[in-house]
Amino acid sequence: MELERILRSQGFGSRPQSRALICSGRVTVEGNLCLDPSAEFTPEGLNFEVDDLILEFRKFAYLMLNKPARYECSHKPKYHASVYSLLPDFLLVRGVQAVGRLDEDTTGLLLFSDDGQFIHTYTSPKKKIPKVYEVTVKHPVDEFQIAALLEGVQLNDEPQPVAATGCDLQSERVLRLTVTAGKYHLVKRMVAAAGNRVEGLNRISIGGLHLPSNLPVGAWTWLEKTDQERLSFRP
Ligand code: URA
Repeated sequence: MELERILRSQGFGSRPQSRALICSGRVTVEGNLCLDPSAEFTPEGLNFEVDDLILEFRKFAYLMLNKPARYECSHKPKYHASVYSLLPDFLLVRGVQAVGRLDEDTTGLLLFSDDGQFIHTYTSPKKKIPKVYEVTVKHPVDEFQIAALLEGVQLNDEPQPVAATGCDLQSERVLRLTVTAGKYHLVKRMVAAAGNRVEGLNRISIGGLHLPSNLPVGAWTWLEKTDQERLSFRP
């Protein structure tokens, strides 16, 4: 594939924009400066640099962000900054989208991709992918609340009770709650229906993929093959 087409596919703008980057000496391929926009390369596994960005060709982009509080999962946020402002331009140009949404005050694991099939899989309620949240609540948790969350709580607008598939007490006011649905304010509404109140919500895993402890708040990283395998693994 021509280098200018490779750059375009990786989010470096239109073909003329990609060509301009190459011709102005800002692109190296496998460590060598390349000034020819028509130079042919096999894209799979190709390492290239644009200015100080070191990248590998990716047919699709899969990434995870450690979402901070006070960021909205929207391209047009109303009250806070957008989570998209935490991603570099080339990913936005590629059109990566958040895989589902977290509330503005929820922190933790948020996936992004430009692969429509992947987004569909991980947002579809039919797939019942477990998501684990660390939930800090206002009042000490009692056994009745845990039983209610596991047996199912009735939410407004929902025809059937919604149950957590896991609920482990970490401390008096901290629960680890596993849910498989992806409804609006789900955890907050479930906890309220069980007679408590969410004061802090942090998503720590999706499927078998855990938020890496070394990923700083506000930072993103690629989902590598092993991460994608973990994601589809049901613990
Ligand atoms: N449940 C909620 O209530 N909020 C979130 O952000 C995610 C799950």
